[in-house]
Amino acid sequence: MSGFSTRSDFPRAWNPLAKALAELRARGEPLVDLTESNPTRVGLPQPDPRLLSTPEAFTYAPEPLGLRFAREAVAAHLGSRGASVSPEHLILSASTSESYAWLFKLLCEPGDNVLVPAPSYPLFEYLTRLEGVEVRPYRLPRVHGFGLDVEEVAAARDARSRAVLVVNPGNPTGHYLHEGELAALASLCADTGLALVSDEVFSDFAWDAEPDRVATVAGRELPMLTFSLSGLSKVAGLPGLKLGWTHVGGPPAARDEALARLEWVADTFLSVGTPVQQALPGLLAHAPRFQAALLERVKENRRRLVAARPSGASWDVVPGHGGWSAVLRIPREPGEEATCLALLDAGLVVQPGYFYDFTGGAFLVLSLLPPPEVFESALGPLVRVLEG
Ligand SMILES: Cc1ncc(COP(=O)(O)O)c(C=O)c1O
Repeated sequence: MSGFSTRSDFPRAWNPLAKALAELRARGEPLVDLTESNPTRVGLPQPDPRLLSTPEAFTYAPEPLGLRFAREAVAAHLGSRGASVSPEHLILSASTSESYAWLFKLLCEPGDNVLVPAPSYPLFEYLTRLEGVEVRPYRLPRVHGFGLDVEEVAAARDARSRAVLVVNPGNPTGHYLHEGELAALASLCADTGLALVSDEVFSDFAWDAEPDRVATVAGRELPMLTFSLSGLSKVAGLPGLKLGWTHVGGPPAARDEALARLEWVADTFLSVGTPVQQALPGLLAHAPRFQAALLERVKENRRRLVAARPSGASWDVVPGHGGWSAVLRIPREPGEEATCLALLDAGLVVQPGYFYDFTGGAFLVLSLLPPPEVFESALGPLVRVLEG
């Protein structure tokens, strides 16, 4: 249709799975939803709502980078994870998604591109397109446990590539970036002028200890511009409060120029509400309680999933080290969509791997957030359908 921009022309046709799910929901069929990823809907601890009624809630005295003491609270939070950072190098936004949009405005001319991992979180395609930016996927090879292979990043790069995006740990693959991978990436970035954008929203949710794991790139001395992203949405399980942060690092002159430009972008929108900034120290103080409960939940559900797999089964739980999801590798036949439809018939909602751009086999993605009794109730039908 004329009169609209091409970047807002998203495909709206429903895929067969979405159609089948809508029909079942319209009929009121009971379904166990193993795609539930909203942390506020699965009975995990929430902070005291009185935290949001701050005495200064209606005072408007905005600072483009975010209120100073709110940035200090984020710096203290990162410090408790071993990253020594200055509040001066932090910028608050309404969400990690908004942080990405600001970074694309900062780094890219229309038509430039950013290198994105595949498989990964599906929002990059939309976030980039809305900024007139293109994506060039680099594969995370399954033989590396879906870890980063710098040769793949180098092969995906072209003259218009401005940044490489890393999701650490991967969503939904749960692979953390390791020191050797970061060193190789840093050298590629330094040689080619790529900035590093590191999405660390799941980094606090490690299931086990691993040597050489990189928890965050914030506070590290790296030779390229480095942006490390996270926010309340995952760290404290509070996506509705709309507060994310970006730490800017790298060579001081480039870092300071990036901060000055981002301050201008942020000043144009001033999108973070005052009450949430004022409540931030209290909300971050609650995060450990939320994270402990979530980790116990996720690890227990994963343990039950692995235990439910019959020996010699034709499917597998893909190894991972953190995050909120499990990935299953299933036989190529009948494949992802047919298996998801059969699971829907059995009352289970799961996601097909193609939502996350998996290739080289067939995969399913399950949320590990549902309460254990709900998750457990799904395992019988899941195994029955997968065993055909
Ligand atoms: C890897 C990853 N990054 C970013 C986000 C978006 O987070 P926010 O709610 O802060 O925009 C998500 C949401 O699921 C995610 O999975």
